[in-house]
Amino acid sequence: MSHKFIPVCEPCLAGNELEYITDAVRTGWISSAGKYVTEFERTFAEYCGVDYAVGVCNGTVALHLALVALGVGPGDEVIIPDFTMIATAFAVCYTGARPVFVDAHPDTWNIDASKMEEKITKRTRAILPVHIMGLLCDMPAIDKLAKKHRLFVLEDAAEAHGAEYRGRRAGSFGDISAFSFFANKNLTTGEGGMVVTNNADLYKRSRYHKNLCFPLEGGREYRHDDIGFNYRISNLHAAIGLAQVERADELRAMRRKNHALYVEMLSGIPGISFQKDDNPDYLHVHWMNAILVDEKEYGMGRDALMERLRANGIDSRKLFTGMHRQKALERYGCDTRGEYPVTDMLSDRGLYLPSGSGLSEMDIQRICDEIRVFKTSELK
Ligand SMILES: Cc1ncc(COP(=O)(O)O)c(C=O)c1O
Repeated sequence: MSHKFIPVCEPCLAGNELEYITDAVRTGWISSAGKYVTEFERTFAEYCGVDYAVGVCNGTVALHLALVALGVGPGDEVIIPDFTMIATAFAVCYTGARPVFVDAHPDTWNIDASKMEEKITKRTRAILPVHIMGLLCDMPAIDKLAKKHRLFVLEDAAEAHGAEYRGRRAGSFGDISAFSFFANKNLTTGEGGMVVTNNADLYKRSRYHKNLCFPLEGGREYRHDDIGFNYRISNLHAAIGLAQVERADELRAMRRKNHALYVEMLSGIPGISFQKDDNPDYLHVHWMNAILVDEKEYGMGRDALMERLRANGIDSRKLFTGMHRQKALERYGCDTRGEYPVTDMLSDRGLYLPSGSGLSEMDIQRICDEIRVFKTSELK
């Protein structure tokens, strides 16, 4: 029997997306001015529990803009996790500063807070934790360290919309935070991003630099005091975003339910493990359902399992390659020496399985059966 192909992630656009985007087209408000941009910013700030939000055109520029607002520049260092998506590091490079890597924690896969202090120098300006797969980092420990060394904290919350620690949401811990709304994210606009903060000054600086440093007040004289960027989000993208925020709780619950099904259906398979998620203080939003494959115990390596899934119509992706293994960062001048054993283990053994919010229980069953069938046939 031939099965339908299961992609690694599909957006779930079953709310008011079409209605709002149609309204934007009908009324001619398709550029960056328009009511959907302001409504999307307002509702997303409210969702995160922060005072201000600035919509931008993707998550990578959200990170860059946040760093610009903080005044990070040449000669500075920014602490980032070694285990992250490349955009985290590139955003630091855009400012002329240098990213400095810290290994992941073997249980949470997030930046290991206990290994951060040894990387702080007199040039360090900021810590940039990334909430990997939608699990918040150890923000109390990071906050304590930041206060001790007078550093800024910028959360990369690209994967963590609605994630919580003791009821407080991602984006509300740092001085400033960045989100992505790429098509595979828990909330999406296709391409899009957001900078959020409680700091009025950082908010103003973000707005100013996002729009080519046009003055925030007064008439349009086409005189500019600083070099800015065009990082504006369109009203069309924001229309989709507003409809997504309206369903944020529902979409979060779908993601969490799918993860629970994966855990249940894959439990007991030797050599297959998940990111640890047993601390009741944390609410994980499971951007992606990632597993690690121990070749010895499972009897097949990660790459072979991915091939097997692909041959059976199931898409998957490898986990990120560590920053210390990135040629681009070595060429830029980052210190790529040293050992990052946890990141290496994650990127050598890890993959993520189909994870779209709208995935059906039958799809998840089919995926898990495929992973289990190999193991049981081996055991016979
Ligand atoms: C941790 C992290 N940071 C930043 C980004 C960049 O977001 P975007 O693709 O919207 O530029 C991503 C996107 O996948 C990400 O996972």
